[in-house]
Amino acid sequence: MRDRNAPVGVFDSGIGGLTVAREIMRQTPGERIVYFGDTARLPYGSKSQETILRYSRQIVRFLNTQRVKAIVVACNTASAYALDELEKETDIPMIGVIRPGARTAAASSANGRIGVIGTEGTIASGIYTRYIEAIDPKIKITGKACPLFVPLVEEGLWQDPVTDEIARRYLGELIDIGIDTLILGCTHYPLIRSTVGKIMGDKVTLVNPAYETARELKALLKERDMENDEKPGILDDRYRFYVSDAAEKFKRFANSIIKYGILSARAVNIEEY
Ligand code: DGL
Repeated sequence: MRDRNAPVGVFDSGIGGLTVAREIMRQTPGERIVYFGDTARLPYGSKSQETILRYSRQIVRFLNTQRVKAIVVACNTASAYALDELEKETDIPMIGVIRPGARTAAASSANGRIGVIGTEGTIASGIYTRYIEAIDPKIKITGKACPLFVPLVEEGLWQDPVTDEIARRYLGELIDIGIDTLILGCTHYPLIRSTVGKIMGDKVTLVNPAYETARELKALLKERDMENDEKPGILDDRYRFYVSDAAEKFKRFANSIIKYGILSARAVNIEEY
């Protein structure tokens, strides 16, 4: 077993996973984090399962070199396509974002109609539908792929008329169906939550799986007696960020998402792992 004071590894294709990392920082402030954003190879959402599995394996190998004690797959696409395989290949505990999101949505819906927005890969995998139906087979789930959202978020167009227009086109059919709960099934989407919320209206609950994911991590560390017990002062350099490309751009965005201060973001050649 790894050292209890080792970091937690968190990864995504880019900045989206920072919405999960931010929640982990909030709920478990004593934990160290090593974050990896695969900025050279994003988006993940339009790629095949085989490719996402290969990328995810490389990232897990990289995180292993950082001696992480647990890994949070802070990417819906990688959780959908790779998590089951990754879990078989390593003995480090892993948490994805889909199961926690499905649980929260099933508990939140009163009318039994839930929408899921995500990447093409996540929606095509049907994984949210499977998990929610396993909780309550009466719930009707409608998925909608929103492939343009990730590039809009990565370009910083979080509040912009272009994003409004595209969101209206994507979300129209979910409004017509009368869903009362919408899962933000891509970790980039919480960054355009206000746009999505404005279009869906205040009768629709938006579910961001980050909160439940961080809770699950907290419970897992406690259950396995792996919580960090270092004194707060020692933890001053507790967050480390790595990317596969464009470290400066990542750092700029990351600093506007995470208020804890990102001192540095380093580029690594992920193809070497
Ligand atoms: N943020 C990721 C997700 O949750 C991936 C987005 C992408 O790279 O397409 O699916």
